[in-house]
Amino acid sequence: MSRFWSGFVKDLDPYVPGEQPKLANLTKLNTNENPYGPSPKVIEAIRMAASDRLRLYPDPTSTELRQAIGDFYQIDTDCVFVGNGSDEVLGHVFNALFRHEAPILFPEISYSFYPVYCQLYQISYNTVPLSDTFAINVDDYSNVNGGIIFPNPNAPTGCLLALADIERLLQRNTDSVVVIDEAYIDFGGESAVSLVKTYPNLLIVQTMSKSRSLAGMRIGYAIGQPDLIEALIRVKDSFNSYPVDSLASAAGIAAMKDKAYFNETCQAVIDERNKVVAGLQELGFDVLPSAANFVFASHKQVDAAKIAAGLRKEGIIVRHFTKPRIDQFLRISIGTAGENQQLLSVLDTLV
Ligand SMILES: Cc1ncc(COP(=O)(O)O)c(C=O)c1O
Repeated sequence: MSRFWSGFVKDLDPYVPGEQPKLANLTKLNTNENPYGPSPKVIEAIRMAASDRLRLYPDPTSTELRQAIGDFYQIDTDCVFVGNGSDEVLGHVFNALFRHEAPILFPEISYSFYPVYCQLYQISYNTVPLSDTFAINVDDYSNVNGGIIFPNPNAPTGCLLALADIERLLQRNTDSVVVIDEAYIDFGGESAVSLVKTYPNLLIVQTMSKSRSLAGMRIGYAIGQPDLIEALIRVKDSFNSYPVDSLASAAGIAAMKDKAYFNETCQAVIDERNKVVAGLQELGFDVLPSAANFVFASHKQVDAAKIAAGLRKEGIIVRHFTKPRIDQFLRISIGTAGENQQLLSVLDTLV
């Protein structure tokens, strides 16, 4: 705190990201990174881009990167917006599309950055309870609103909503923007990008941090009709004209083009997830159905905070939220086969 701070800054309650520990040899299952490295073609593209050309600014419109994303989804380049990680893209979305009279709506258990953006941009919001089984029920989002946002699959639950439910929501909610945050969609869900051409108020936000193993590169994107994209560009160009640097751009283009590596690593994460779920269930955990690269599990007898502390002692970190209704759950990212085995054998000694 300093007397130089504005009153607004004093009152901010910023997002706290998952720990990035400095200690070596930790098994890091706490921030939903991909256990496999990026495609070798991505590493090669970064090497090629690490040249004298770095003295130049990158393309402010990131046209080639947007084209590569558009080609992957078979959608026009002018339907694609890119930014420095999807957190930045989401920030622009809140600023550009959610600052209206009516409160926006999102699930009570959801990505904990959403209320932080609301505070930053002074947007009022109402949270909507999940069902008894932690599912999002789109029929609960029928109030007048300034926008709707939720992750699909939801975070931190991992629960997936079917495309038909999203379409039902869009058919009913036509007067505000509906944002689907698909950070984890590639691990078993069906993207709603296919609905973008039909619904002018639909915006999809995705990231290369998870399924494309590029959390360190910070590349996020949004897909929607050009009118929505234009709003994001207006905010971006009032904030930072060059959010995606030359190396990130080269990496992102190569990542979108290497479909074989993408499919192979996503499938490997899904196969490992199935093994982790079975192993946890055998140890007496209840595991919510997950379509993400993490699982959300609570033990029938042993306290979640105790388990997290016990794992940490053995060099394994997972995420524990102290929020009501989920304080007995642990969010566990899917690791490599070796890491997952280590997790299960340490858990065996703790529960
Ligand atoms: C639901 C959700 N959306 C967005 C993000 C942000 O991803 P990034 O900023 O790395 O693109 C995360 C990160 O964990 C997330 O869980």
